[in-house]
Amino acid sequence: MKDMTNGLVLSAMTIGDYPEVSALWNTIRGFAIRSVDDSYDGVARFLLRNPSTSVVARIDGEAVGAVLCGHDGRRGCFYHVCVREDHRRKGIGKAMVLYCVNALKKENISSISLVAFTGNGAGNAFWKSIGWRMRSDINTYDLILNENNVVRFNE
Ligand SMILES: CC(C)(COP(=O)(O)OP(=O)(O)OC[C@H]1O[C@@H](n2cnc3c(N)ncnc32)[C@H](O)[C@@H]1OP(=O)(O)O)[C@@H](O)C(=O)NCCC(=O)NCCS
Repeated sequence: MKDMTNGLVLSAMTIGDYPEVSALWNTIRGFAIRSVDDSYDGVARFLLRNPSTSVVARIDGEAVGAVLCGHDGRRGCFYHVCVREDHRRKGIGKAMVLYCVNALKKENISSISLVAFTGNGAGNAFWKSIGWRMRSDINTYDLILNENNVVRFNE
C-alpha cells in the first residue's frame, strides 16, 4: 500500500476545527449531513464526550481529512471518515484510521463498528483493504428520537 503522507499533520479534532471540517464534509459526495448532529452544537457535544479520539489531517495547514471517532465505554464508533477528493489514494485515510484506533486503544476499547452504505464502492473497498471485516450476519436498527435531525445527502 502506498504511503505518500509526507507533510501530513494529524491532530486531535477540537471544536475550533469545526468551520473547516464542516466545510470539508460539505464537499464529500454521498455524505449524509444531519442538521442537529452535524451542527456546531452537535459536534461540540460529541467532542466533549470524546475529547481525544477524533482527528483532523492537515497539509500545509489546510484540513484535507477528518474522522469523528468516539466510544460509549464499550465499543468505538467512526463517523464521517473523509479525505478531500484531490488528496485521496495517498494513505491519508489509513493514517487517520490508525490514529483513531490508537486513541481508542488508550481508552481500553476492544472493538469498533461503523456504517458504510452498501452503494459506497470506494468506502467499502477502503475498509476491506485496510483489514476491517464486513459483517453480513447482522442487521442494523434505528429509532429516530428527534424528527428535527434532518438528513441531507451531498450530491
Ligand atoms: C474512503 C476514503 C476515506 C479513503 O481515503 P484515502 O485517503 O483515499 O485512502 P487511502 O489512500 O488510505 O487508501 C488505502 C487503501 O484503501 C483502498 N482504497 C481507497 N480508496 C479506494 C477506491 N476508491 N477504490 C478502491 N480501493 C480504494 C486501496 O487499497 C488503498 O491503497 P492503495 O491506494 O495503495 O491501493 C476516501 O475515499 C473518501 O473520503 N471517500 C468519501 C467518503 C467515504 O466514502 N468515507 C467512508 C464512509 S464509510
